Amino acid sequence: MDQLVNLTTHDGVAVIVINNPPVNALSPGVPEGLVAALDAAEKDPSADAIVIIGGGRTFIAGADIKELELAAAGRGSGPPEFHGILARIENTAKPVVMAIHGTALGGGNEVAMAGHYRVAVPDAQIGQPEVNLGIIPGAEGTQRLPRLVGVAAAVDLCVSGKPIRAPEALKLGLIDRVIEGDLLKGAVHFAREIAKEGAPLRKTSELSEKLGSEWVDASIYVAGRDQARRTRRNMLAPLKVVDAIEAAATLPFEEGCKKEREIFVECIQSDQARALIHAFFAERAVAKIPDIPKDMPVYNIREAAIIGAGTMGGGIAMACANAGIPVLLKEVEQAALDRGMATIRRNYENSVKKGRFSQEVMDQRMALIHPQLTYEGFERADLILEAAFESMDLKKRIFGELDKIAKLDCVLATNTSTLDIDEIASVTGIPRMVIGLHFFSPANVMRLVEIVRGKATSKPVVATALALAKKLGKVGVVVGNCRGFVGNRMMLPYMREAQLLVEEGATPEQVDRALYNFGMAMGIFAVDDMGGIDLAYRVRQEYKHLEKPGMRMPLVLEKLFHMGRYGQKTGAGWYRYDENRKPIPDPEVHAIIEKTAHEAGIPRRHISDDEIIERCIYIMINEGAKILEEGYALRAADIDVIYLTGYGFPGYRGGPMWYADTVGLKRVRDRIREFRAQHGEWWEPAPLLDKLADQGQTFAAWDAAHEHEMAVA
Ligand SMILES: NC(=O)c1ccc[n+]([C@@H]2O[C@H](COP(=O)([O-])OP(=O)(O)OC[C@H]3O[C@@H](n4cnc5c(N)ncnc54)[C@H](O)[C@@H]3O)[C@@H](O)[C@H]2O)c1
Repeated sequence: MDQLVNLTTHDGVAVIVINNPPVNALSPGVPEGLVAALDAAEKDPSADAIVIIGGGRTFIAGADIKELELAAAGRGSGPPEFHGILARIENTAKPVVMAIHGTALGGGNEVAMAGHYRVAVPDAQIGQPEVNLGIIPGAEGTQRLPRLVGVAAAVDLCVSGKPIRAPEALKLGLIDRVIEGDLLKGAVHFAREIAKEGAPLRKTSELSEKLGSEWVDASIYVAGRDQARRTRRNMLAPLKVVDAIEAAATLPFEEGCKKEREIFVECIQSDQARALIHAFFAERAVAKIPDIPKDMPVYNIREAAIIGAGTMGGGIAMACANAGIPVLLKEVEQAALDRGMATIRRNYENSVKKGRFSQEVMDQRMALIHPQLTYEGFERADLILEAAFESMDLKKRIFGELDKIAKLDCVLATNTSTLDIDEIASVTGIPRMVIGLHFFSPANVMRLVEIVRGKATSKPVVATALALAKKLGKVGVVVGNCRGFVGNRMMLPYMREAQLLVEEGATPEQVDRALYNFGMAMGIFAVDDMGGIDLAYRVRQEYKHLEKPGMRMPLVLEKLFHMGRYGQKTGAGWYRYDENRKPIPDPEVHAIIEKTAHEAGIPRRHISDDEIIERCIYIMINEGAKILEEGYALRAADIDVIYLTGYGFPGYRGGPMWYADTVGLKRVRDRIREFRAQHGEWWEPAPLLDKLADQGQTFAAWDAAHEHEMAVA
């Protein structure tokens, strides 16, 4: 017997175990092993029924995404094909019971649905998350799922991509029993019952009671497509998956499968699937740091302490408590501390109201956060994170104090978004313990943490930061210590270009609409109003000395600042805001823009949406290329992850650097040269971009070439 698949017999039931660690992916060898095991089990006179179960921590977790990647790139032997193996399972002459623990997602659930019955442990997760990768279920999932759960639930599961737990799966009819206790025992017992009763071999492909009727289903498809457009803006797969489910309800099974296949192939060969698969692997690759091996020792963060209970400190305290880490939260005055704790409580209460977790869980989390006005207990902390105001003097003072209080092996982190980590570290006697942990707001929700490595930061401290990010359920990306680090450094020229565009003839709402339609979570002016024009103004002042000669600086922002139009918080900024904080285009702002342009002698002209996208996104890509060449990011893919997880860049475009590759670097560079000629020096193409464009190369290829160096290093 193939070692990937093992066959034994228990109490008159053949048990087939799939052993393809870590997640029992359906990679080559598994289907073949499964067929061989089924053949043998069918022939075995001592077995009346068959149980298929995953070895290790999960059932079949899904398809092998490496294979999907090859198929998306048009390489390999084409998209994986499971029709034969699924038919083989379904046509088995003895009842086949699928026993599910861990996850049965995508291909895993598709295999499970080919069995005659399914049982699962209570916390098993089952679902069809393919849309997250820009594809649809490609192994008959769209055909079997509606036959088991009905059309409406199938549409919802496939469009949302969200997994469900066993009890809900039981209610929907996706599984037949929830097994408490030992799964194998329970599954064997269930299989014996089925065999004894002489229950029919229930073939999912032959079921039709739940497929509904044409006129009832029609409204479900309309609602499903609507859900797809709303929740998965601009994406192909979530719309297409509804077409495939419609085929299940209107065509015979075999024809429905053919239709699903056509749609699957169309989706997997799309730019969207390639981008999302890139994003999937990019996120998993960020923790690979060339000089930090996987087994680098880390400091165990058992207790944390945070300075500042404002927007960020409070959010980070919640992130720690959510991960079970007790945290001391220090403020300078009682009022600020009370405000901070009240916000934390309100956030948790909202989650309880929405049913995300129970009151008991909330109480446990609240109990882990200890508000205080002193440094009491800080000497015990394994990590101290400073989230006070953005001021170098203040941060240096605080780190000077920490130097006296913290134990020698305590990691000292700052959440600064713009200040020099080395300068902060310089006031301590242990700069090797100092690191930047740049969380994003709201810190209890946003997944990105830029891990800023100073010149003295020790390797174990970097490894600790990566491990901590993971423990907090976040994505830690290691970046270098330059102005604005990676994310904000690229954001600055993006914002500047957007503002120049309005002075040249666009309006804030046109720029925002173009960016939103491109896929950004929010338009940049709406972002500016949310973050605060006062903050943007202060950042601008601080960076003034970095302005290059010949760089035209936008003028309107300062005017808004001096008018007290700070954005949402004052009810007006680039937009006006109603009581629901809905942005409303403001003629007063248009007038200020026109007057400013007139006074500065800037001719106003019609600006196309294409130009808006090119100017805003290409300037960001150009900055990304500089960052990469200067070594402040390790990989182009790291920059993509930063923008996907922290800045609302659309996943289906793969991040700014991947998007540049899909446009073609030569085209991007040539357009940048045109902008250079039209606007000025700040549009000079980055040397790396120039070089790759001339060589007909991509950022992805640059990453791959450096991956090799990393492997050697
Ligand atoms: N707000 C964001 O979106 C964001 C995002 C990333 C990083 N940051 C950075 O995080 C830091 C905090 O920003 P914020 O938005 O939370 O500011 P905030 O003004 O909301 O909170 C800062 C808090 O720190 C407290 N504080 C000041 N000095 C202190 C001291 N010595 N001891 C204890 N508490 C003290 C203040 O009372 C205040 O409550 C800044 O460095 C900022 O640049 C902010």
